[in-house]
Amino acid sequence: MVPWVRIEELSAYVDRDVQLRGWLYNARSKGKIVFLLVRDGSGICQCVVTRGTVPDETFELADRLGQESSLIVEGTVHADPRAPGGYELWVRRLQVLQAAEGYPITPKPHGIDFLLDHRHLWLRSRRPFATLRIRHEIIRAIRDFFDSRGFLCLDAPILTPAACEGTTTLFEVKYFDDVAYLSQSGQLYVEAGALAFGRVYCFGPTFRAERSKTRRHLTEFWMVEPEVAFTTLEELMELAEDLICYIVERVLERRRPELAILERDPAPLERVAKPFPRMTYDEAVQWLLDHGVPMTPGDDFGSPQETALSEAFERPLIVHRYPAAVKAFYMEPDPECPDRVLCMDVLAPEGVGEIIGGSMRAWNYDGLLRRIREHNLPEAAFQWYLDLRRYGSVPHGGFGLGLERTVAWICGLEHVREAIPFPRTIYRLYP
Ligand code: 4AD
Ligand code: MG
Repeated sequence: MVPWVRIEELSAYVDRDVQLRGWLYNARSKGKIVFLLVRDGSGICQCVVTRGTVPDETFELADRLGQESSLIVEGTVHADPRAPGGYELWVRRLQVLQAAEGYPITPKPHGIDFLLDHRHLWLRSRRPFATLRIRHEIIRAIRDFFDSRGFLCLDAPILTPAACEGTTTLFEVKYFDDVAYLSQSGQLYVEAGALAFGRVYCFGPTFRAERSKTRRHLTEFWMVEPEVAFTTLEELMELAEDLICYIVERVLERRRPELAILERDPAPLERVAKPFPRMTYDEAVQWLLDHGVPMTPGDDFGSPQETALSEAFERPLIVHRYPAAVKAFYMEPDPECPDRVLCMDVLAPEGVGEIIGGSMRAWNYDGLLRRIREHNLPEAAFQWYLDLRRYGSVPHGGFGLGLERTVAWICGLEHVREAIPFPRTIYRLYP
């Protein structure tokens, strides 16, 4: 029996007979030889079909096979530095499972809207292949990071009774005779978890009815949210630095071929190391004004400010202590400056912008209740959350790292829509 192997394992099978199962990625013929580029989801292998060494019907079949036909090929593995991936298969048998015709995504360039309309097929192309394998590696690294540091994975609900990140971006859904909202963040629930287990994280999809059409916004995105009891803002910043360094190192260690497919220069990633530069909000405002970037002190940063700050440094930049007025209701005021909050954002370099937002949480009952009222949030829906301040409250905090923005940064993508298998934006709910 010829063993079925995956293309990424071919180096262990040089000069041996193997079977590959996959799809025709591309083909070209040169007289007596047909080169079939076969992909199997783990890589692409050039399969060489030579007239005379296979039955004539097989050669003719190979010669007119349509792109994305599904097939099983058998042959001998040859190491050849000129072949894509370094190995090729000298074919003896070819079996076609389904002969595809008229596959819409040809090797010529296509527009982004066309590709997104065909995302279910576009997933098979080289860029999505590389991007989504890096995404998977980042997900694994994130889990390994927290699992190895004593964090418990605590899944937060997706159907929720109230807002976490402001009422303007809530998706409302009918919930029997009531309404519910798709979760904007698992934070409030991981806070309950932190007081139960000390350190927890949730990692799942979150939803925001973002009307902005930018390269940084999706309406459905994934976020990992660690939450730690008995911590400080300083410790949260260190946790964020360690997490980012861990993710970047992992991708450099295991996913260099994918970075190369994306033509992503690894040098800026190699420069990511602790400590990250830090600035208070006020210092960042001053920096912007000094560098001619328009900025109204007291406002939140918009796209131009974020881009300017994140282009200025080689490492991710931590900005901390924003004005309370531009941040969420649950943040703890800075005891040294009560109109500032103990929060931090991490801006990725190369113009990417914010990938992490986090804070210490208002942990005193009266202070939190005041903030809920100031924000006109429905008190009844927050009684359970206030319980966390009634029973054994402690200083605690955490942050959220946006997965797609992190993937976009590491892969060097212009837009977050390519960083998720099926992007959802204000204009896209298909496929
Ligand atoms: O800064 P945000 O809104 O923070 C929170 O949601 C906190 N509750 C997290 C926490 O402390 N547990 O969002 C965190 C991150 C952002 O830095 C960004 O990376 C990502 O989530 N994010 C988005 N990514 C894609 N599309 C959007 N519309 C996003 N909104 C936020
Ligand atoms: Mg934020």
